Formats: sequence, C-alpha cells, structure tokens
Amino acid sequence: MRYTALCEALPMNYLVVKWIHLVSVMIFASGMLVTPWLVNGVCRQPRDENQQKFLVSLRSYHRLITSTGLTLAWVLGWMMANSAQWWGHPWFRVKLLFATLLSAQHGAVSGRLRKLCGDPQCTYKPLRFPWFFLGLVLIAGLVVLKPSI
Ligand code: HEM
Repeated sequence: MRYTALCEALPMNYLVVKWIHLVSVMIFASGMLVTPWLVNGVCRQPRDENQQKFLVSLRSYHRLITSTGLTLAWVLGWMMANSAQWWGHPWFRVKLLFATLLSAQHGAVSGRLRKLCGDPQCTYKPLRFPWFFLGLVLIAGLVVLKPSI
C-alpha cells in the first residue's frame, strides 16, 4: 500500500499519536543534547555545595522531563507500529535498534547523575556523546525516507 493511501486508510488518531510522538522525541532529544554538556562542567573535580545543588536540579530535570519524553516516545511509537504494522519493515527495525541505543545512552547519563549527586567527592571523565547526535540524524532519515535497505 502506498504511504498516502495508508494514511487515508488509518484512523485520524494515528496522526495525532505521531504528532505527540514527535513532541516527546523533541523533549527527550533536547534534554539529552544539553545535559551531558552541563554535567561535564562540574564532574571533573570534587564539588562545593552550590555545584551539588546545580547537579541535583539537573537530575530532577532529567528524571521529570527528559525521561518522560523518552517513555512517551516509546509508548506512542509502539502504538503506531502496532496500528500500521511497521514491524516487518527493514527501515523500522533499524530505527528500533538506534532508538534502543539512544535509550541506553539516556540510562548512562541517569547513572552518572545519580552517582555524582550522591557523592560530592566522586569525579568522572567528561561524558562525550557525539553518537547521540548521529543517532538522531540517522533515525530522522530512516523515518522520513523509509528506505527499503
Ligand atoms: C527514541 C528515539 C526516537 C526518535 C528520535 C524518533 C523519531 C521519530 C520521528 C522524527 C518521527 C516522525 C516521522 C515523520 O514525521 O514522518 C517518528 C515517527 C515514528 N516513530 Fe519514532 N522515534 C524514536 C523512537 C521510536 C520508538 C521506540 C518507536 C517504536 C517502538 C517508534 C516508532 C515510530 C513510528 C511507528 C513512527 C511513524 C512512522 C510513520 O507513520 O511514518 N519511534 N519517530
């Protein structure tokens, strides 16, 4: 079935779900692009009280906003995949792989923030996540172009 015909055949709420999926992805991605950068600024040496407060506030944002964006992206993406039966499409399988990798990076940031907040003496090498940006670029290409691979 052609893509436009598919859109016509599916109930309107597919597009509403896609809209909210996209907004969730934007919230998740913006948090994940900025948070490691901010953590890098304070994670190399033991921290004073103000720096710890900053990290705690950053962690709250990560847990409340960025994690909610990720959860919604998964739930709504799953609903769309079920509704349109995208599971067997090669582009979708590759997209799912990259979405899983981006989710794992989110988990890595959560773990570091937990440790840094729990101990002001704990230090880390800076987080470097160029792969996150690359993953986003590839996912966007896959969902828009839907290559048959
Ligand atoms: C977490 C990283 C993710 C990113 C960056 C992402 C990105 C996107 C984008 C940009 C679109 C919009 C495409 C368009 O407007 O045509 C989209 C659509 C979609 N996403 Fe995701 N997504 C992610 C996770 C997921 C997950 C985990 C699933 C499934 C379990 C999923 C399933 C879908 C489906 C089914 C569509 C609609 C495809 C269509 O009808 O054209 N996404 N995604």
